Amino acid sequence: MAIPVLLGITASIAAYKIPELIRLLREKNCEVKVVLSFGAKEFVTPLTLQTLSNNPVYEALLDASAENTMSHIALARWAQRILIAPASANFIAKLSCGIADDLLTTLCLATQAPLFLAPAMNQAMWANPATQHNFKTLLSRGIQFIGPTEGVQACGEFGLGRMAEPEEIANQLLFSIEKPLLAGQKILITAGPTQEALDPIRFLTNRSSGKMGYALAKTALALGADVTLISGPTALSPPPHCKFIPLKTAKEMLSAVENEIEHHTVFISTAAVSDYYLPSPALQKIKKEKTTLTLSLEPSPDILSLMAHRMPRPYCVGFAAETQYSLADIQEKKIKKACDILVVNDVSREDIGFEKEDNALTVLTENEIIHLEKTSKMNIAQQLLKIISEKIKEKSNVL
Ligand code: C5P
Repeated sequence: MAIPVLLGITASIAAYKIPELIRLLREKNCEVKVVLSFGAKEFVTPLTLQTLSNNPVYEALLDASAENTMSHIALARWAQRILIAPASANFIAKLSCGIADDLLTTLCLATQAPLFLAPAMNQAMWANPATQHNFKTLLSRGIQFIGPTEGVQACGEFGLGRMAEPEEIANQLLFSIEKPLLAGQKILITAGPTQEALDPIRFLTNRSSGKMGYALAKTALALGADVTLISGPTALSPPPHCKFIPLKTAKEMLSAVENEIEHHTVFISTAAVSDYYLPSPALQKIKKEKTTLTLSLEPSPDILSLMAHRMPRPYCVGFAAETQYSLADIQEKKIKKACDILVVNDVSREDIGFEKEDNALTVLTENEIIHLEKTSKMNIAQQLLKIISEKIKEKSNVL
């Protein structure tokens, strides 16, 4: 049976690529119905879209003839997936505010179907804080983004804002319709910092916000995995539908991981575990003296390394937050930790990593080094989980 895809087109020059996208979707067994925003038909004609989709093209919210046959509610119900390509800055802003002032925005509010957006706009418009805020709002609601990509733009500028190519859009959309990528996987994720008490009111901790680990948990759930999230103290809410274990210290984290690990197929250790702790924190507040305070700290257990050296063990993914490193250093760390994948995060950069919304990663697998360019932590999480799922598949084919 054909997959019902509702394709929304908004006003952007990238709309000229949409006839090709319709052709690809139909080749991949989709039935496509097109809805145009008010400005879209300035870039691509309804007649072309109707001919290629082999369906009427919808434009008006209050069109008496269309209302008789297919109202916005019926269209919203009909769609199994809604794809907006190109998604303009204006459309993204309207969707994030819940505005419903035309057929496309109204049916996006009315639908239960997953929404996919392929943004296209000038790089400065994409980088604008208003657009970035709207983008993050939509991501946090589970709306999936395909692109944008970097390159030369129609306006002659270079940057992030180009619509992903039709082939990439069609592939990503269909990927989500096929069997969820991580169905059947049980993923254990540690996230956030740990807190190691010095006395009843003071502790040692670090700048980890937990955003990367929580983004991985959310995305893994969306991709069909069962997720257990073990987290140090953060300001974040755990995603619904995961098993959540909050705690404070490295030792508590070790015992929670030890209790959980055998029930999981993948262990992703994003937590920034304190490397040292004070074995006997003072029972009373340490008094201020005029002399130097010396604390004798002990190394914390290395949870990832302990788990990765066990047999049997799940597929193990470690993170390394580095400020200065060479390839040899991180390769050595991967061997020392015995993990299957080591993900390196350059935390010396001001624009990514600890506490930031974005990340860029270097991923060391058994046989490859993959660079994931700077993007939101949710997008990075999708790319990383895709790599992990491919590697697990390769491994199970070898065994
Ligand atoms: O050695 P380093 O702290 O750079 O290693 C980082 C990786 O090891 C992360 O995946 C982190 O979650 C894990 N780790 C751990 N236990 C520690 C220190 C780090 O599991 N005590």
